[in-house]
Amino acid sequence: GPALSGEHAEARSIAALRRQAEGCERCDLYKNATQLVFGEGPIDARVVFVGEQPGDREDLAGHPFVGPAGRVLDECLHEAGVDRSSCYLTNAVKHFKFEQRGKRRLHSRPNAGEIQSCAWWLGAELEQLRPDLVVALGATAVMTLLGRSVAVTKNRGDLIDTPAGYPVLVTIHPSYLLRIRDGSDAAAQRARFVEDLTKVAVYE
Ligand code: URA
Repeated sequence: GPALSGEHAEARSIAALRRQAEGCERCDLYKNATQLVFGEGPIDARVVFVGEQPGDREDLAGHPFVGPAGRVLDECLHEAGVDRSSCYLTNAVKHFKFEQRGKRRLHSRPNAGEIQSCAWWLGAELEQLRPDLVVALGATAVMTLLGRSVAVTKNRGDLIDTPAGYPVLVTIHPSYLLRIRDGSDAAAQRARFVEDLTKVAVYE
């Protein structure tokens, strides 16, 4: 799987990393995306959230989790008693991957090569931040962080260490909650997500 360990010696700060990443050509996703969406948050954040990749709204705004999935995440963090502004939010993949369908840009899942190429940046962010907890939102984040696939629905709420030693809290991606059609299942899944997020508060 993707390696997160290794030296990122030239990168001296998150700001420097972002500047470097703006010119990233490690995979082809930069060609069609509007812009890089790098991680954001306080440099002394104790908790880092890792999503999959920016969506349509994030791609246009240049900031992570500002679209529909971000709104669900905000609401659930609030209910769990976690202050988003104290956390660092980033993504496994830092450019939006999509399929153009008429005027719409449909989210398309990053492939293993794109995930692996982009893992270098996440590894560098973690080396800078050295968080006490990393929250993996969904399967792509889990794969990037742990270098292997872990069944998210079976292992949600569990803490698993990365090869570099960061504890990872496994949970679902908030966009999953937006896709559930059955109202009672959606409410139950949302409640479980909030419950997973309550485990974050002690690390904050
Ligand atoms: N989904 C993600 O995984 N990340 C974002 O930044 C927005 C939506």
